[in-house]
Amino acid sequence: MTNTQRQRQHPLRDAADHALDLVETPRAVAKQHDDEHAPFVADPRQYRCDPAAIAFQMTVGRQDRHFDVLRFQRCAPVSKMCVLAGVAGSHSYSLSYKLIPRVNAMKLLHIDSSVLGPHSVSRQVSAAIVDRLRQATPGLEVAYRDLTSTPLAHLSGSHLAAGQGAVPEAALQQDLAAGQAVLDEFLAADIVVLGAPMYNFTIPSQLKAWIDRILVAGKTFKYGAQGAEGLAGNKRVIIAISRGGFYGAGTPAAVGEHLETYLRWVFGFIGVTNPEFISADGIQIGPEHREKALAGALQAATNLHAA
Ligand SMILES: Cc1cc2nc3c(=O)[nH]c(=O)nc-3n(C[C@H](O)[C@H](O)[C@H](O)COP(=O)(O)O)c2cc1C
Repeated sequence: MTNTQRQRQHPLRDAADHALDLVETPRAVAKQHDDEHAPFVADPRQYRCDPAAIAFQMTVGRQDRHFDVLRFQRCAPVSKMCVLAGVAGSHSYSLSYKLIPRVNAMKLLHIDSSVLGPHSVSRQVSAAIVDRLRQATPGLEVAYRDLTSTPLAHLSGSHLAAGQGAVPEAALQQDLAAGQAVLDEFLAADIVVLGAPMYNFTIPSQLKAWIDRILVAGKTFKYGAQGAEGLAGNKRVIIAISRGGFYGAGTPAAVGEHLETYLRWVFGFIGVTNPEFISADGIQIGPEHREKALAGALQAATNLHAA
């Protein structure tokens, strides 16, 4: 690429390269190429693997010492700090910088567990929650897991034995790897959005199989002198629940509610003491009520506060 071509791509680029050439100490050729040819970026969060990005301010002046700040521009990350000043022809270039601290992108884990596919209420609501957070959180990384299309096996004695150090049979090894992947993605998440329908008064069995893989001693909870202690309290958990009937306090069915109460307990056990719930209730009462409950839940999703 010629200098002219590069200048067309970014007006500051050529002068910045020139100033870098003047003052930087020698460095590996490959690294130098990476630094100088990486694109200018709008948001340092794109560079979450790098220690920091650098913001450059550039002034260009003439010999009469009249300097103008041309632009302030976030720039691709560079390998080291450097103070840049150069003189070229009758124009002076001065480049100052400030470090932009590394900002890790937020990670959201989106999980669905309804068996009703596109007819599912909880799936629509969980998707609306994720959409809302995506819009409100620049750079949000979203991972998705569908527990019905890719179900986890139920725990068995062999799983527990493998956890105690027994050598697993070949058939079990793949499933253990899947369980480890599930645990790792849960631990990595800052936000968990869970679609949880009520089936037979509680969660779907597919969701229970997932919970069995994330409630792991030493990873998400531990037992100490004070009893159980949650280790996963650094997460925001938002749960979209959908129920055919009504289970509010004071209703005859309240005692049969083992969906929200169960999930509150499970997440509290691992340290998430304030899970947020958005509910669509009375889905089976009739079409009109279903529409109203769904609309209310979708509206609640759009009102969620940002990550
Ligand atoms: C297998 C099955 C069991 C259900 N059991 C209950 C129940 O115990 N109590 C209830 O209020 N609704 C029950 N329902 C109704 C669902 O909770 C309701 O349809 C809800 O919208 C399901 O969420 P989904 O649409 O995301 O799958 C059941 C539905 C199914 C398919």
